[in-house]
Amino acid sequence: MPSEPCNVVVLLSGSGSNLQALIDSCRAADAPLRIVAVVSNRADAYGLQRAEAAGIASVVLDHTQFDGREAFDAALMARIDGFAPDLVVLAGFMRILSGEFVRHYQGRLLNIHPSLLPRYKGLHTHRRALEAGDAEHGCSVHFVTEELDGGPLVVQAVVPVLPDDTVQSLAQRVHHQEHQVYPLAVHWFAQGRLRLGEQGALLDDQPLPASGHMIRP
Ligand code: GRF
Repeated sequence: MPSEPCNVVVLLSGSGSNLQALIDSCRAADAPLRIVAVVSNRADAYGLQRAEAAGIASVVLDHTQFDGREAFDAALMARIDGFAPDLVVLAGFMRILSGEFVRHYQGRLLNIHPSLLPRYKGLHTHRRALEAGDAEHGCSVHFVTEELDGGPLVVQAVVPVLPDDTVQSLAQRVHHQEHQVYPLAVHWFAQGRLRLGEQGALLDDQPLPASGHMIRP
């Protein structure tokens, strides 16, 4: 395990329940990571209050104040890099990132998505899974590449779809699993166990399956 803790910057736009799960996962004195900053593109994101309550530095960078995606992403990179992160964690950051941004953080940029990728890239994943009559749904942690929601998978948690599920009830159960698998993946990275290789994600130097490490109920 690396001797220095892994510096993590978390990017979000909303509630930040995944940030909270990460905060809660590094309470132990010997935690392999420390969250050095939270960056939001929205000043009203509740995740900023979670950061403040945990004594974590936060930055608001309002994308509407920039002239286009490239200008915003350049400013975002400058702010993130000011914290010298080893890992950047997207936790409900509702912005499509430019190729330049993604390449800059290649191999040290993780995202969580509320579906069993490659199913249901993009938005409204719970509704789409219900409408398709899927028996299973879930969430995925993946390395970010230039393909939207398409980078190598690290871990997926499967959630059964119940006959009387609504979008809300299904979303709630998926969210609960997100709070388990995101800290797991981030801790693997911080422990030096997880990395992005030429062909995909590696755990303990072994290639992960294309679906990532699967967690079933
Ligand atoms: C989660 O559903 C995550 O999968 C998606 O954005 C949502 C963020 O939720 N990328 P929260 O802000 O962490 O509660």
